Amino acid sequence: MTDTATTSNAGAFEVRPNPAPTSAAARAEALADLRFGVQFTDHMARMQWRKDEGWNDRRVEAYAPLQLDPAAAVLHYAQEIFEGLKVYRWEDGSLHLFRPVANAERFNRSARRLAMPELPVEDFLGSIEALVAVDGEWVPGSEESSLYLRPFMFASEAFLGVRPAHVMDYLLIASPVGPYFPGGVKPVSIWVATDYHRAGPGGTGAAKCGGNYAASLLPQQEAYAHGCQQVMFLDAREGKFLEELGGMNLFVVRADGTIETPRLTGTILEGITRSSVIQLLEDDGKKVVERDITLAEITAGIDSGDIAEIFACGTAAVVTPVGRLASESFDVTVGTGDAGSVTMAIRERLTDVQYGRADDVYGWMHRVG
Ligand code: PLP
Ligand code: COI
Repeated sequence: MTDTATTSNAGAFEVRPNPAPTSAAARAEALADLRFGVQFTDHMARMQWRKDEGWNDRRVEAYAPLQLDPAAAVLHYAQEIFEGLKVYRWEDGSLHLFRPVANAERFNRSARRLAMPELPVEDFLGSIEALVAVDGEWVPGSEESSLYLRPFMFASEAFLGVRPAHVMDYLLIASPVGPYFPGGVKPVSIWVATDYHRAGPGGTGAAKCGGNYAASLLPQQEAYAHGCQQVMFLDAREGKFLEELGGMNLFVVRADGTIETPRLTGTILEGITRSSVIQLLEDDGKKVVERDITLAEITAGIDSGDIAEIFACGTAAVVTPVGRLASESFDVTVGTGDAGSVTMAIRERLTDVQYGRADDVYGWMHRVG
């Protein structure tokens, strides 16, 4: 993953202002009550792609329901991909993205896997800058809050034949958010799915496509039924190795200070938080090992005390401690069940960079306002 500064073509997006934007008072009220993904800003950015014509119709317009033909291919064959990244408001009021080029590049890797057109990085960045230029006041300034950006692309051609669609819509919507898990940073419980898998060899596990999340919902429901907030998936070939959670990557902290995370096998999502966490830990002198990790060694390590902490990470979840791991055959508390010190330290290291409280020595931050 690179973080090369790339130019944006924000100026190419025609702005059609929302004729009835939210009042400053109503926005302030919305920003005072932040949850994840329930409120949206006044505008959205969009573009359309047509086979033989490429990308056109760059616009920022009022956030509104879409008009979609009932035969639109996405509704039948799920040709859809998305990304997730955040705008952070620094103490001086300025607005910044975290490694957006990495998201743009992953979007294009997902596009290739789903037989969709790639989106030039300058359009990805341009859509964000154009939207933030009109909706920047929606970026909250309270602790641990941000404006979550959801870029997505879907097959909008009205055609029921099974082939890559010839018309695609790209949209970018934005949602002011607080913590992903209600109640802030406290340990979550994880349900290990044994009957269901998220992805298999040669499948779409490494792509950020809606279908992967659809497949995770039934096991996620099972997790809720067992009092857990997230589901953990094991590899589909042997049902032995840790992969990831429904929407987060996973790290294990050993009592000797070594940190381990499942290696990228092509079936898990290459998290931008994951790669940033690895880099920050290594630069702090910690040993990080990317390898195949079995569930059996995790449960044994928790029992013996060899595993001190487990944490999950992702854009939405940031760094979240895991306090409990359960499945049909076991139910164990990780460490003391509280947030561990390595977990909380890496969380702080990461958020210090994102919120401008630490020097951006890696060039990860990209100013947008
Ligand atoms: N794994 C899955 C399945 C995800 O949905 C996400 C969230 O985007 C992640 C991992 C973490 O990725 P990132 O850190 O890039 O947000
Ligand atoms: C993210 O962290 O951005 C995700 O996409 C996870 C989840 C909300 C789907």
